[in-house]
Amino acid sequence: MMRVYLDNAATTPIDPEVLKEMYKVMENHYGNPSSIHGHGREVRTLIERARKTIAGLLHTSPAEIFFTSGGTEADNMAIRCGIVDNGIRHAISSPLEHHAVIHTLEAMQKAGAIKLSFVDVDSKGSIDYDHLEKLLKDNERSFVSLMHANNELGTLSDMERIGNLTEQYNAIYHSDTVQTMGHYRHDLKNLKVHFMVCAAHKLHGPKGIGFLHVNHKIKIKPFIYGGSQERNMRGGTENVYGIVGLAKALEIAYANMDQHHQYIQGLKSYMIDQLKANVPGVEFNGETDPGKSLYTVLNVSFPCSDMADMMLFNLDIAGISASGGSACSSGTDIGSHVLNAIGGNSSRPSVRFSFSKYNTKEEVDYTVAKLKELCQVYA
Ligand SMILES: Cc1ncc(COP(=O)(O)O)c(C=O)c1O
Repeated sequence: MMRVYLDNAATTPIDPEVLKEMYKVMENHYGNPSSIHGHGREVRTLIERARKTIAGLLHTSPAEIFFTSGGTEADNMAIRCGIVDNGIRHAISSPLEHHAVIHTLEAMQKAGAIKLSFVDVDSKGSIDYDHLEKLLKDNERSFVSLMHANNELGTLSDMERIGNLTEQYNAIYHSDTVQTMGHYRHDLKNLKVHFMVCAAHKLHGPKGIGFLHVNHKIKIKPFIYGGSQERNMRGGTENVYGIVGLAKALEIAYANMDQHHQYIQGLKSYMIDQLKANVPGVEFNGETDPGKSLYTVLNVSFPCSDMADMMLFNLDIAGISASGGSACSSGTDIGSHVLNAIGGNSSRPSVRFSFSKYNTKEEVDYTVAKLKELCQVYA
């Protein structure tokens, strides 16, 4: 049986080159980076070199990069510090955001810290920019949190357009870029974004490490109090191996980005064509237009309603790993908040397939053949 991993939006396999770099550090550099002696100083140098590499790729200054434990912490830091430390009382987000964003904002709303507004979205998960402008106009200075690519649908937002709008209304703009970091070139010299987020494990780096980019125009207080690490903004001894691995992963992603973009988009387009040819009634959730959709994500809605809850189980039995994303089908099953928000059809099973540079056309063929078989059995 073939084993196929098509869940790269959940996490990616680590690149052997990244592992090699991390292993070298683990083996040879054990000093505490806060120690002022030689063992400590050499590890401090590794951290600062990694920060400089990342900043260089994003066209920003190393002073704007803060290492965190990953995407969730970076989102929490941006939202909590961005709002509280700037005296903001109104936030704008979308119902399609990752729980790292929605749950943080909802907790702040519940505590009475902010009023929270959700921007309208259409059936493909695109933002209504006129509604966003209205919300910005109707409220005093807002904090705007809108992701670059939706992790379930792949639908992209227009960061340039949001940046221009937020600048016009003096708002603070945070974008959860977890799914697009390393897949698109974010040019921080030109983007009008105040906070951006990275999780290394989404780009063939290690788990448990990421960073928050904080624009120098925005002042925030520490997120985690403790030692003076991360220029006093996040106490705690640094995840040195993770930081080195993260920088290496991003370096590799940038060096091969155009080639990987073309290759992975090719796999996704091929899978779309093969599904249309082999599975009658197949549909796609979210945008599939390459200009409006993240090339690593394909969310498929199947016509075989009899097997709604069994789809992922059957794929797993066939050795294929993918993610669920069913819309709510019963009172107890809350389903995917993303599919529910775009009005997904709860009687059709939906599966998110997500690709990486390590996937092949043969894996897509095998997956489509299994899907065809399953939909014939459960038609
Ligand atoms: C869009 C988005 N934001 C945030 C996160 C959370 O990142 P992490 O797992 O590094 O905490 C994820 C991970 O699934 C994600 O897809």
